[in-house]
Amino acid sequence: MSILSTEYMGLKLKNPLLVASCSLTKKRDGVEKCAEAGAGAIVLKSLFEEQIDFEIKDMEKHLMPYWHPEALDYVQQMGMSFGPNEYLKLIEETKKTVSVPVIASLNCISPKWWITYAKQIVEAGADALELNIAIMPSDPNRTGTEIEDIYVKIVNEIKPHISIPFAVKIGPYFSSLAHLANRLSREGAAALVLFNRFYQPNINTENLTLAPGYNFSSPEDMGLSLRWIALLSGSIGCDLAASTGIHDGEGVIKQLLAGATVAQLCSTLYLNGLQQIGKIIDEVSMWMENKGFQSIKEFHGKLSQSESDKPELYERVQYIKALVGIE
Ligand SMILES: Cc1cc2nc3c(=O)[nH]c(=O)nc-3n(C[C@H](O)[C@H](O)[C@H](O)COP(=O)(O)O)c2cc1C
Repeated sequence: MSILSTEYMGLKLKNPLLVASCSLTKKRDGVEKCAEAGAGAIVLKSLFEEQIDFEIKDMEKHLMPYWHPEALDYVQQMGMSFGPNEYLKLIEETKKTVSVPVIASLNCISPKWWITYAKQIVEAGADALELNIAIMPSDPNRTGTEIEDIYVKIVNEIKPHISIPFAVKIGPYFSSLAHLANRLSREGAAALVLFNRFYQPNINTENLTLAPGYNFSSPEDMGLSLRWIALLSGSIGCDLAASTGIHDGEGVIKQLLAGATVAQLCSTLYLNGLQQIGKIIDEVSMWMENKGFQSIKEFHGKLSQSESDKPELYERVQYIKALVGIE
């Protein structure tokens, strides 16, 4: 057993590095390459309900508030066109050829399809399921509680129909994130993925048109996820997967110290290639050896809010004295 081995959602992993759901994991050879590069587990590209070929326009009319911002990006702009059957085949095939856990990812609009697809994903043999839920709170008549209730309702509706562990992947924009996280955990989520990074639209001032935003994160984007992992680990019951801005071994170590069970990698793999996985494994292993840690358990959550000797720092939102000497 390697010093990096760990457990996530009850799955045994050889290391805590997951390839996040993205286009690198949308095809069999991509998934195989991620496994060969050393990933501890792989999250497949999300299956978006919109990929199914039926009356989307009619749905748009009724369900616009539930529309997923990423879906618009990935399905419309990147021309995604692989449907549910192909997705189920991807799960079946990769389960045969890849030895690390394969986690499917699903985003739906209507309850019927959440359940139908979740069941099919279980039957296809996925080791776990990530529910990629994002509801754009753009309706001025809808309260925050109403929106949070939808997240919990989706979990409640799916839960009785699946026998594999599931994670809920959310964005950071909630007025009471800790409360929602606690509700999702109590309703049965085996993990929360904090956070999804949504498509940011842009405007082309030359052509006066809408333009696609830049999709990749930088290491500076990790702060939000780091703070919330530290605040929530130790106070809610489920595992936490850190996502957004983790680009190197240092980022992974910080997230593990904050209390993340695993780290999900995406932008860094696009920017540096899949060999970045091996590089990060080496960096984390070397750091552990230098510090004398034999296992992740020995330092996991050591700097979470509940373990820290300065717990107030994670709740500080104003700079006050933090920038003394700079201001
Ligand atoms: C090209 C691309 C495609 C993505 N597709 C999905 C997706 O299908 N489902 C999902 O949950 N997240 C998707 N994401 C979000 C990533 O999984 C990840 O949460 C986000 O990029 C933040 O991590 P990073 O900072 O390491 O990039 C995508 C990201 C990128 C850049």
